[in-house]
Amino acid sequence: MEFSIIQKQPKKDQLFILDNERSLGQVDILESNEASYVKKALKDKQSLITINQYNRVIFIYLITEKDSETLTQEGIRKTGATIQALANKHKIGTLGITNLSSKPNAAYTLAEGIALANYQFLKYKSDADKSVNALQNIAFTKQSITLKEVEQLTVITEATYHTRTLVNEPLAHLTAEQLAKEISTIGKAAGLKVTVLNKARIVKEKMGGLLAVNRGSILPPTFTIIEHKPKKALNKKPIVLVGKGVVYDTGGLSLKPTLASMDRMKSDMSGSAVVTGTMYAIGKMQLPLHVIALVPATDNRPGQDAYVPGDVITMYSGSTVEVLNTDAEGRLLLADALHWAKRYEPELVMDFATLTGAAAIAVGNCGIVCMGTADEEVKNKMRESGNRQYERLVEYPLWEEYAEMLKSDIADMKNVGGRYGGAISAGKFLQHFTDYPWMHFDIAGVSFNTATSGYHTSGGTAYGLRMAVDFLMHYAKN
Ligand code: BES
Ligand code: ZN
Ligand code: ZN
Repeated sequence: MEFSIIQKQPKKDQLFILDNERSLGQVDILESNEASYVKKALKDKQSLITINQYNRVIFIYLITEKDSETLTQEGIRKTGATIQALANKHKIGTLGITNLSSKPNAAYTLAEGIALANYQFLKYKSDADKSVNALQNIAFTKQSITLKEVEQLTVITEATYHTRTLVNEPLAHLTAEQLAKEISTIGKAAGLKVTVLNKARIVKEKMGGLLAVNRGSILPPTFTIIEHKPKKALNKKPIVLVGKGVVYDTGGLSLKPTLASMDRMKSDMSGSAVVTGTMYAIGKMQLPLHVIALVPATDNRPGQDAYVPGDVITMYSGSTVEVLNTDAEGRLLLADALHWAKRYEPELVMDFATLTGAAAIAVGNCGIVCMGTADEEVKNKMRESGNRQYERLVEYPLWEEYAEMLKSDIADMKNVGGRYGGAISAGKFLQHFTDYPWMHFDIAGVSFNTATSGYHTSGGTAYGLRMAVDFLMHYAKN
């Protein structure tokens, strides 16, 4: 999707954003019978009106004010998805957008909804050229948006597309090594430094968590480090992002029941895709922040040499873990990455992971379960970003009792805490490997859609990316 700013709309397909009926008078291209048709439709409480002329389509969109600005903005984004479908139905290649409302960011938000809804993953379709969406350009009238907003829209759209594509790629293409390669390509396109640690190096470092999960696989693990280090960074100590990179989760020997529960497990690297997309965005935006991302990656399989329930492993940190369920693998490789992060003495660490079914059961696909030790002020900023981007956060407590659940008779900890409070005991496990302000985002419920819903296309959603980028952008401002 391309975005541009133009002086004057050509007499082609266009959309006008209004926030009251009076501003309809400013839509100067309607004939009088069309104008009265629109007036009547607006009176009948229609908020999106299509005028299908033989040589062009005009959309009139009246913004609906909801109970809060957060909800109003999300309504605009969702309308964007509706418009995206209509535009493609009408084979519109370039849609002109003019904002006549008093909301300065209305064109941005609407276009964001359109652009995110317009994502397609056609790589494996033989008739891809026939299925590709007609809509490829959005042209804003110059009073409707700022140049800065257009740049941001471009970056956010590209970052979201990269993230979704990484999630949508099946294991057959996206092994841990291939994930590292894709991250390198995406990272380099944004001017980032990418370093990939191979299996030999991971063995040398003694990353016991990552290696234990990898034992059942015939494919080697990787540990990828992405760095954005601008000359004039505002932070002395880096912010570190960590993403779970389980390129496929069969559960290992604690095999997942095959009936449907494995279907979406190519998406178990969504955390790594979100941090990759986030790094891409901040690199492209040249955000004045020093940020490092870590991606431990492997598939989790019940191969011949697979780790077994009952095994005791020594983690990268030196702690021992009794593995009682090989399907609780994400926390093992994340723990190694969280331990690695200590070397940077980070100001803040944020990890993203499809960590537990329990998080999905708790809030469904309506938000992110989060928890952590970051300052209250930082948490509030994260919540604000989550609301602004409608990638909302629900914070869970890290009470001491949850650590009790992880006590092992024979090792320092076990890797499962039991059925109840499963999302939290997983977070509590991770906390053990941190000694810095930290926030954990469990995106198991939101990272993957089996069907398109609004501007979230089917497959990878990139949920969490816009919250993270928004948070870092505001962090850089303060
Ligand atoms: N990758 C899964 C979590 C998951 C479940 C993500 C559903 C997306 C949708 C994770 O590795 C896992 O299997 N967790 C187990 C942990 C349990 C064995 C303690 C779970 O949640 O059941
Ligand atoms: Zn698992
Ligand atoms: Zn998993």
